Amino acid sequence: MKKLIYLLIFSLLGIVSCSRPDEVTSPDGRNHIHFELTADGTPTYTVVRDGKTVIEPSALGFVLENADLTRGFEVKNSYCSSLDETWTQVWGEERDVRNHYNELVVELKGERLLTICFRAYDDGVALRYIFPREGDAEALTVTDEKTEYRFAEEPEAWSIGWRTSYYEGLWKKAPISEKDTACSPITLEMANGTYAFLHEAALTDFPAQALTFEGSKVGTYLIPWLKDRHALDARAYIETGFQTPWRFLILADNLHDLIGSRLMLNLNEPCQIEDTSWIRPMKFIGIWWGMHMESMTWKQGPIHGATTTNMTRYMQFAKEHNIGGVLAEGWNLGWEDWSRFYMTRPYDDYDIDSISRLSAELGVEVIGHNETGGNAALYETELEEAYAYHQEHGIHAIKTGYVSPIIRTLDGPQYNRSQSGVRHYRKVIETAAKYHIAIDNHEPVMPTGLQRTFPNLMTQEGVRGQEWNAWSRDGGSPCEHVTVLPFTRVMAGPVDYTPGVFAFENPVYPQTRVHSTLMNQLALFVVIYSPLQMACDLPENYMKHPDAFRFIEHVPCDWSKSTLLDGKIGDYVVMARRDRNSDNWYLGAITDEQAREFTVSLDFLDEGNYTAIIYRDGDGADWENAPYDYQIEEKTVNKADSLTLRLATGGGCAIEFVKM
Ligand code: NOJ
Repeated sequence: MKKLIYLLIFSLLGIVSCSRPDEVTSPDGRNHIHFELTADGTPTYTVVRDGKTVIEPSALGFVLENADLTRGFEVKNSYCSSLDETWTQVWGEERDVRNHYNELVVELKGERLLTICFRAYDDGVALRYIFPREGDAEALTVTDEKTEYRFAEEPEAWSIGWRTSYYEGLWKKAPISEKDTACSPITLEMANGTYAFLHEAALTDFPAQALTFEGSKVGTYLIPWLKDRHALDARAYIETGFQTPWRFLILADNLHDLIGSRLMLNLNEPCQIEDTSWIRPMKFIGIWWGMHMESMTWKQGPIHGATTTNMTRYMQFAKEHNIGGVLAEGWNLGWEDWSRFYMTRPYDDYDIDSISRLSAELGVEVIGHNETGGNAALYETELEEAYAYHQEHGIHAIKTGYVSPIIRTLDGPQYNRSQSGVRHYRKVIETAAKYHIAIDNHEPVMPTGLQRTFPNLMTQEGVRGQEWNAWSRDGGSPCEHVTVLPFTRVMAGPVDYTPGVFAFENPVYPQTRVHSTLMNQLALFVVIYSPLQMACDLPENYMKHPDAFRFIEHVPCDWSKSTLLDGKIGDYVVMARRDRNSDNWYLGAITDEQAREFTVSLDFLDEGNYTAIIYRDGDGADWENAPYDYQIEEKTVNKADSLTLRLATGGGCAIEFVKM
């Protein structure tokens, strides 16, 4: 009887006995993690998929200021548990997410206690460390992390080097032995033709990880505190009881499964915001592209962008064209020399009260802008006041910015990816939530799925975005760039890439331009996911092609399902998504500098007929000479049909499937 009661309690909690105290297998039986201590007590793990070793025995552990937690351990205890739940996203690429895993927890005793949790999912594996607390909390200083990934066969990795400012680089592929360092994440093309994605999840009060390479081994490098403040090479100041972020590896047979994985979200804590009704996905336009194209200025003057007159015009345009909001950059004092930005003081040609009234009248949101110039410390001390001010003016979304690779935090100058930077960004999100404000964070720390816990963290930059196509002296991003992003940066979370350029001439830097056709720009609204999705160009440019702009008017940015129909990293992407608020589907296809033709089965559609409105490259289109050549066609289709898509060089195709 006693045994039965125990069994009952254990199964309710999802705690199961381990078949072996050192192994855990995914629910589908394919992924397998094996834990082992070496002869000198070094903790190691091995990952096997379908009976084949993916990660050979790889070391785990930490170096603390006063303890070596890399060896000398013995196992005190180990236990298993499992979970199978389905949760609903506040917004996302799909509505419902299944979180199904088996877990193994190993408690170790060495110079100090250390616990390691392993999770085996059908779509990958994850691990995190816990520094157990005995009695009163004790302060610990982490000086190094030793987590490694020894690949059995050398993969090729898509990555950006760890010194890439703001993560705004072009992702490059090479065998990992030819790489030096990388920002996390990296996307791996495995020797057997499968794929993997290595990153961290739930980054909380800890530095971001970067990655090192040595032969087939990937190592972990924690972003340090700057030494001028701390004599020590400190990476993290923690207390016993602390749990590190998860380190995870998505394992997928193909790219469809790779980008369909929700493992990173599953590793984050459930939503901590009780009432989420105020968090609303929307498209927006902005007083923004004009500054990057130098036809407007942020600072006050003869061509000041954020004036009451311009804002009124943009808001009326948004209202007429089904756009939810308008961003105003350069509305506040401080742009003259960037030495100090005021988050509650508008320029006198920006009448914030009348703009608020117009916003309420039209039902068009104003998206605030808080550029800090990297002065996070000042921003943090003024946060409550700034957000109360925005809330009073009916503003529910703010784009934040930290232009400066070293930011001034409350702990002095620090990398924005350091523990201090991570703490600052979290403070911003939590404070914003109190004031019902959603955040679009520019110059962020790389996202790690925190939007599950704080869905007001809606989108982030951390990407070489569209603005580079306005002013980059290298001529702008190559066509291939946007065909890499869905498999790399977008996998870490929504991206404020700002698609939608409709005018390709660049009077200021004639050699620099957007390397795409107009149809490619439309397709990006489907291909690159963001629940706050900016259509970046000026209203007057949109009105030069009102028929094409109709796609932007109609395309949603919150989805009940998303599926990759076809793709190759760096070559092309064909993506379909189902609107969360209607029965309509949307398709976006883009290619690199090579023109391509695909036949796409429409079997992803639901039952019934649809009107397919097809926005395609014209027969003479190419990104360099004829980006405006396009055709719009209509057809009745159903799921038994297929469509042939022809994409020009740098081209694209966008389709709206309206349920009949
Ligand atoms: C860089 C951001 O990425 C861009 O979007 C913004 O306009 C400028 N900083 C000014 O804040």
